[in-house]
Amino acid sequence: MLRGSIITGLVDIMDKSAEKLKAEIAIIGGCGHVGLPLGLALASQGKTVVAFDIDAQKVEQTNQGTMPFRDRGADELLKTVLDKNLFRCTTDRLALKDAKIIISVTGTPVDEHLNPRLENIQNALLSCADMFNSDQLLILRSTIYPGTTKHIEKELIKQGLSMDVAFCPERVAEGCALEEITSLPQIVSGCTKQAEERAAELFKLLTPEIIRLDPISAELAKLFTNTWRYVQFAVANQFFTMANDYGADFYAIHAAMTQNYERTQGFPKAGFAAGPCLLKDTMQLSAFHNNNFFLGHAAMLVNEGLPNYLVNRMQEMFELNEMRVGLLGMTFKADSDDIRDSLSFKLRRQLRPNCKELLCHDPYLQNDWLCALEDLLEKSDVLIVGAPHQVYKELKWPDKPIIDIWNIAEQRIKVL
Ligand SMILES: NC(=O)c1ccc[n+]([C@@H]2O[C@H](COP(=O)([O-])OP(=O)(O)OC[C@H]3O[C@@H](n4cnc5c(N)ncnc54)[C@H](O)[C@@H]3O)[C@@H](O)[C@H]2O)c1
Repeated sequence: MLRGSIITGLVDIMDKSAEKLKAEIAIIGGCGHVGLPLGLALASQGKTVVAFDIDAQKVEQTNQGTMPFRDRGADELLKTVLDKNLFRCTTDRLALKDAKIIISVTGTPVDEHLNPRLENIQNALLSCADMFNSDQLLILRSTIYPGTTKHIEKELIKQGLSMDVAFCPERVAEGCALEEITSLPQIVSGCTKQAEERAAELFKLLTPEIIRLDPISAELAKLFTNTWRYVQFAVANQFFTMANDYGADFYAIHAAMTQNYERTQGFPKAGFAAGPCLLKDTMQLSAFHNNNFFLGHAAMLVNEGLPNYLVNRMQEMFELNEMRVGLLGMTFKADSDDIRDSLSFKLRRQLRPNCKELLCHDPYLQNDWLCALEDLLEKSDVLIVGAPHQVYKELKWPDKPIIDIWNIAEQRIKVL
C-alpha cells in the first residue's frame, strides 16, 4: 500500500515537472551565446521556449534572471520573459518531448589536428532521439560541416524518426546577438520543402527577410561568410606587419586608402582575429576541401602569428627581459567577457618568459592573476593592448610606450 502511494507520488511529481517543461520550442544548447539570445527573441514574440543545456550552473543562473554572458539588451528581456512564463532553462531532456520545434545549437569544434569533430553534433542529437517524434521540426542552427544536415536526417530515419530537418545558420556577432537576430536576413534551408517552409514560418517572426537555399548551399554560405571575414582580417594584419617593418604607419595608410574611395570601404583595421568561430570555420572549410585551401591556411598563419610578431618586435625595440609589461584586455574582442580562443592568452604565454614581469588587466574578468588597471598603468614599463575595450579608449594613457595594433591610444607615443 505504502509502496503504491510512493510510486503514485513519484509519477505525480514527474507529471508536474513534465507539465512545467512543456514549451512549443526547445533549444538544445539553449544557454549558450547563440541559443540563449535566440530563445529570448522567440519568447519575446510570445512563443513558449525551453532552453535545454547540460551546463547546470548556467541553467540555474539563467533561471534566476542573470545572463551567463554579456549580450546587449538581454538582461532586461530575460527578466521579462521569465516573469511572463514564456521562457525557462533546464538540464532535463524531457523538455524536448512535447516541443513542436527543436533547435540545436551545439557546435562542431576542431580537434588538435584542426579537423572538425563531426561526432559532436551527431552524439548530442542522437542522445536525445528518444525524446524526438516524427511530427517535430528539427532546426540545426550551429555552424556545421557541409553535408551534416542531410546526414542527421538519415541518422534520424535509421532511428525510425521521419522529422522535418532544416538548417538555418546563425550569423550574428557575439555581444549583440539579440539586436542582430531581428535585423539580419535569415538564410533558411530544409531537407524537404515542408521542412524549409516550417523553418521559414518560424524565422518570419523575427525578420521579414528570408533567403532560401538548399542545405549544402546554406552550410557553405555560413562557412564562406566566416572564412571571408577571417581572410579579410588576415589581409589587414599582413599589411599592418609590412607597414611596420618599413617604419610606416599602417593606420595613416588605411585612412588614406579608405577616404572617399568606395572600393576600399570593406578594408578592416588590424587586430587579433580570434574567438570560437572564425579560425574553426576556416579549418572546417579546408577539411571539407581535402585541405586544399591555401588562402585559408595562409590567413591562419598571419592571424595566429600576430602575437609572435608583436613579441619579436618588442624584443627588437626594448630590453624586454628587463621590463615590466602591462597587457590590457584578455577577452577575444572588445567589450566581451568571452575568452574562448583569445589571442591575448597566446600573447601572454609568449610574453611571460621573455619579460621581467607581466601584468594583465581586463574589466570583464575576475581572476587572481589579473591586477587593477591603475597598478598596471603605474608599474608597467611598456603597455600592450590585447582587446580594445571602451574603457581603454577613454583612458588617459601614461607617458609610456604603447604597443597598440588596434589604434585606440590617442596620444602619439605609440611604438607600433
Ligand atoms: N558565438 C557566436 O556569436 C556564434 C555566432 C554564429 C554561430 N555560432 C556557432 O554556434 C555554435 C554554438 O556557439 P556558441 O557560441 O553558442 O557556443 P556556447 O559554448 O556559448 O554554447 C553552446 C551551449 O551548448 C551547451 N551544450 C553543449 N553540448 C550540449 C549537449 N549535448 N546538450 C545540451 N547542451 C549542450 C553548452 O553547455 C553551451 O551552453 C557554434 O557552432 C558556433 O560556431 C556562434
